[in-house]
Amino acid sequence: MQRSDFPDSFVWGSATASYQIEGAVTEDGRGPSIWDTLTRRPGAIADATNGDIADDHYHRWEEDVALMAGLGLDAYRFSIAWPRIQADGRGAANPAGLDFYRRLAEGLLERGITPWATLYHWDLPQALEDRGGWLERDTAFRFAEYSATVAENLGDVITNWITLNEPWCSSFLGYASGAHAPGRQEGSRAARAAHHLLLGHGLAVPELRRAVPDANVGITLNLYSIRAATDRGEDIDAARRIDGLGNRFFLDPVLRGAYPSDVLADLDEEAWFAENAAPADLASISAPLDFLGINYYSRHTLRAGGAMHPAADGAASAYPGSESVEFVDTGAEKTFMGWEIHPDGLVDVLEMAHAIAPELPLHITENGSAYEDVVGEGGSVDDPERTAYLRQHIAACRDAIERGLPLGGYFVWSLIDNFEWAWGHSRRFGIVHVDYETQARTPKTSGRWLAGFLGGPLADD
Ligand code: NOJ
Repeated sequence: MQRSDFPDSFVWGSATASYQIEGAVTEDGRGPSIWDTLTRRPGAIADATNGDIADDHYHRWEEDVALMAGLGLDAYRFSIAWPRIQADGRGAANPAGLDFYRRLAEGLLERGITPWATLYHWDLPQALEDRGGWLERDTAFRFAEYSATVAENLGDVITNWITLNEPWCSSFLGYASGAHAPGRQEGSRAARAAHHLLLGHGLAVPELRRAVPDANVGITLNLYSIRAATDRGEDIDAARRIDGLGNRFFLDPVLRGAYPSDVLADLDEEAWFAENAAPADLASISAPLDFLGINYYSRHTLRAGGAMHPAADGAASAYPGSESVEFVDTGAEKTFMGWEIHPDGLVDVLEMAHAIAPELPLHITENGSAYEDVVGEGGSVDDPERTAYLRQHIAACRDAIERGLPLGGYFVWSLIDNFEWAWGHSRRFGIVHVDYETQARTPKTSGRWLAGFLGGPLADD
């Protein structure tokens, strides 16, 4: 497999997110976010670390952009920290916050790297959570206002926009399991947070189009390849529930303009949605997009049973209404996250979206893996498993294109090791190693492999 197996227009990128890499959480007028708060709660983060310093990218972004150039990347997907732009989540924009992202975007463009900005990668201003967070309808309007401000100020240097990253995580990990910020356990009411997130997306799309005439606008969903463990009726129903809440509850409103009624019934949320998710909301949410971003990592195999999701160990269910569903360990090879490796699933999720919206371009906006890296001399990391994971999933992208799926790009998660949410610094996804004591960046074998594949200069160092 080589780069020339892909169309010339195919976009090769890497991805990160603000809270996971920036640090500098009190600098230049940034206000607190819900992740600053959650990381202070005892027991919330596996290794008790936080994003106060993270990769210190706020001060080292030029070095990180140089790394991307060395890897031969065409594009960089990063996120904008809402509390850098509006410390309290409303009102006038903070010029210092906008300046940081302008410098970054200009630095990328100078190196021939195209910026792809995500407007919400989970760092809600704490002031908005204090008013109810995503359970409050007003937060959707605040998000649209913030998006408009960012687009008006940065639309000359950024044309590729992703409204939300993985709204399933923001709603069901944030407000049902409580594993993610704001760490609330509200059961099925988390679905209302999902509606307000999607409404925020829908209200932001026309703002982006108005402010940036040549805008390329999408949303990023985390989709899973799903199957039942057996063809018994109750196992098929278990798979339907998890596919419903994890995949269709987001795909359907965005691409079809309607919530799946079976999921609303599972959640016992039909009455609230009938009253609060008006047709006008759904019309906004399903506004035509230029692309769909998909984050693909793994497959789930389900059966009827009594066990909870392994990742929800001890926490409330991230799948309210489906507590009796069991996630089956198939014995397949897994990454250090415990996630099954299943490259063909990448084609499954592309097909899932394509079946609903045949004209819509698709991008893999994240794919990657965590492994227990062993650091050798000079910070070097030999990571054959991560290299194989990337090679297999990139091969799946090629297969998808050969099957005629409209896949336009692939962004590896992640450029550098970073703060992996509830796992803190104990899980590393980077293709470049970061020494958190010295902040030294050293490309791993996987990074050099990718540079070789893309023709980047780092391959030959
Ligand atoms: C999804 C998220 O978007 C990203 O923030 C996270 O680090 C990776 N997946 C790995 O879990």
